[in-house]
Order: sequence, then C-alpha cells, then structure tokens
Amino acid sequence: MSERYRTIIEPFRIHSVEPLRFLSDRERRTKIRDAGYNLFNLHADDVLIDLLTDSGTGAMSRDQWAAVQHGDESYAGSPSWFVFLGAVQELFPFPHVIPTHQGRAAEKILFSAIAGPGNIVPNNTHFDTTRANVEFTGAEAVDLVIPEGRDPAALHPFKGNMDLEALEKLLVERAADIPVVFVTVTNNSGGGQPVSLENLRSVRSLCDRFGVPLFLDACRFAENAWFIKTREAGQDGRDVPDIVREMASLADGMTMSAKKDPMANIGGWLALRDDAWAEQCRNLLILTEGFPTYGGLAGRDLEAIAQGLRECLDEHYLRYRTRSIEYLSDALVAAGVPIVRPAGGHAVYLDARALLPHVPPLRYPGQALAVALYEAGGIRGCEIGTVMFGMKPDGTEEPAATDLVRLAIPRRTYTQSHVDYVIEVVTDVAAQANELPGYKIVEQASRLRHFTARFEPLA
Ligand code: F0G
Repeated sequence: MSERYRTIIEPFRIHSVEPLRFLSDRERRTKIRDAGYNLFNLHADDVLIDLLTDSGTGAMSRDQWAAVQHGDESYAGSPSWFVFLGAVQELFPFPHVIPTHQGRAAEKILFSAIAGPGNIVPNNTHFDTTRANVEFTGAEAVDLVIPEGRDPAALHPFKGNMDLEALEKLLVERAADIPVVFVTVTNNSGGGQPVSLENLRSVRSLCDRFGVPLFLDACRFAENAWFIKTREAGQDGRDVPDIVREMASLADGMTMSAKKDPMANIGGWLALRDDAWAEQCRNLLILTEGFPTYGGLAGRDLEAIAQGLRECLDEHYLRYRTRSIEYLSDALVAAGVPIVRPAGGHAVYLDARALLPHVPPLRYPGQALAVALYEAGGIRGCEIGTVMFGMKPDGTEEPAATDLVRLAIPRRTYTQSHVDYVIEVVTDVAAQANELPGYKIVEQASRLRHFTARFEPLA
C-alpha cells in the first residue's frame, strides 16, 4: 500500500454477493414478538445486518473455495489432514493436534478428561460455552481479568490481561485443585480485548511455579497478535506469525474455534503437549467426533481452515480488520453512546447498563437494547450480560458484572456503508433509550439459557 494515502481500504474486491432482505418496521415488530423477543429465534432472512456473531460468518476467499475443491474425503490419513496439521503446527507447534467440529467440542473433550467436582479453572474471562463445559464436569469456572477489564470506560491497551495477583492468590490456596489455567485471546466476553505478551509471560511463570499447565483459548489469536504488534512496547518490528509462535510457546496447549480468525465456516481443534492427556482426549474424540485425522470435519473443511490460517495473518487484512472495528467505535463515542473502550478486535460492545439506567440488571437492559436495535433497524446484536451469565449452576440469579450488547463484525462480509447505517441506527436508538422497557423471562433452560429463553416486555 502506498505510504502517501491514509485511507485504509478493504484489501479485497467482491466476487460473489448475497442479497439482503428488507422488512418494514411493522413486520420486524411482529417477527421479534413471535420469536419471544430472543434474537436467536429469528429467521436470519428477517435480519438486515447480522452482527450476532463473527463465528463462522466470515466470507471465505477465492483461495479458500479453491482449497475446498482439494478436499480429500479419505476416512483415515487424508492428505487434507496433513495440509491442516502443517498449517496449525507452523503457528502452534504442539505435538498433538486433535481436530474437532468446533471450539466447544474441543472444550468438552478437554474438560471431560481433566476436570471434575472440586476442581477450579481460572480464565481471564470464560466464554459462555467454556464456562458451561467447565461447570458441566462439576468444576468451578473463575474469571480473573484485571479490574480495568471489568470497567467498560477504563482505557487500557490490554484490558484482557489476567489479574496476576488474584491468580497467584488462587494458586497459593488451591493449586492442587487447578488442573489448568486458561487465557482467552482476545478476551471475547470482556469486550474482545487483547492480552499482552508481558502478561502471558507472567502467567506462564506463575503456572511454572505451581506446576499447573497453561492453555490458550485462541479463537482470535491473530487479532490479539496484531494488538501486541501495534500496542506493546518493543513488538512493532516483529512479524505477526512470529508473535503468534511466541504466544504458543508460552502455553502447554490450546482450544480453538476455526470459525473466528481462521475464517472458516466450521471447525476447531484441541492441541497440546502432554502425551497422556492427548491419548485420553483422542479416545473421547473417537466416541463423539470422529477418527483423529478428521475429527468432526470433512477433508474440505480442513483445507479451508489451513488456507484461512495463512490469510488471517496478512498485515493488510489485520490493519483493515481492526480499523473497521475502530471506525464503528470512534463514531459511537463521538455520538456519546457508551461503549466498551478501547475498540476490541472483532466487535463493539454497547454498554446497555449505562445507556438504560432505568432498567435494573435483572430486567435485562442488554436484551432491551438488542431488541430495540432489531425493531428500529433490523440489526441483530447479542446480549452479553445478565441473560447470558446471570444464572448460577444452582439455579439462582444475580446480575452479571456488566450488561453489554455485542455488535460482532463478521470478517470480510460487510462494507463501510453497512457500518455507517449501523452507526445511524444505534445513535437513533440511544437517543430514545430512556423509553425502552425492561423484560422478564417467561421460559428458560437450566444452562446456556440465552440461546432459547423467551421474554416479554414489561409495561
Ligand atoms: N471460546 C471463545 C472465546 C469463543 O468466542 C467461542 C465462540 C468459543 C470458545 C466456542 O467456539 O463456537 O466454535 O464452539 N464464540 C462465538 C461467539 C460463538 O459468538 O463469540 P465454537
């Protein structure tokens, strides 16, 4: 790119398009009412701009589609498996790589093998499925992000960092009950905020001191590495893959969803050093996912992931990617909308608790805001707050640390004019936020209730 011009452009042009479907305001109000005011229950055709997740929703490249054609569907020892294995180990040189159909399958297998009642798993912040998989074994999931990471307004370049003092205290008290320490990069539930190399190194040395393994939940490793390169002292001159390899070298293993940074529509893996754990995990893999050279995936998926892994480390791509999130973030800050700052790597998080002070957490301000964005402009975001995290394993309910609405930006999918539209809708809804009703839950499951709960607005 020329150094003379400042505009950061999409580093691609578009070769195949999908139409959007436009509904009237009245149609949207009916659709969301029929969906029990849960955005997960909508027909995706009824959504105009879908920011529910950046997971599996990215646009694959020409070269990924070409790689799909190379897919070899041999049951065992497929060449596509070796392409995948090579691409993974080039960045994450763990001796054992276990392919799964997505990230949560890797979590389920790992925690089934290593955690159980009486155990504690610390993480900067557990993602919802990670927490649920830890708790499903009877273990306890503890979030130990730095205090700035819990304050949406605090400006800190690495708000995903682990609180080292809190981790040390927990290790002093309970190391024998801690099978693994996890660090999530970037910290999705905490605002898509990165973790610094310095922090990872310190977590590593604490883990060494107490003899506890360290794993990465590495879904957004490339975005995290880009933040390290651009924000951390002394990292500027390094290649992104080099930073990724250092992140990997500090860990004993990883769980991964290939639906995020690797820009595949499905896929994941578990990778680790320990032979005994790997054997246990492979045996579980064969029970539920498949043979160890394909896991839960088709050969074509393995090829698409391998190609995506190379593309997501391209600096033009990463510069555009992080800038496009920052663009949305800057505009909302300028409009006075409270959001988690600084901009995260894959999403902008609206601070619903701050925007709707008249709606108490147990009346779900995040849900109220998410519904309003759909009703007003057909935008689908995702509540990350008391609906998602407020229900404890014993069935009681308490407010989550924050009530946010995440607008996750799928990779390479929407253009700047889509984002300009989002800015306009969010600003308009924010101006009328004091009129939005709270909600009550009229139907819910005992775990991961946000996916299926049904709501009613309060008068
Ligand atoms: N870990 C993190 C940090 C995640 O963000 C996700 C998924 C997973 C694990 C599980 O991976 O979906 O492949 O099973 N996050 C998506 C999201 C669903 O919308 O943030 P998965």
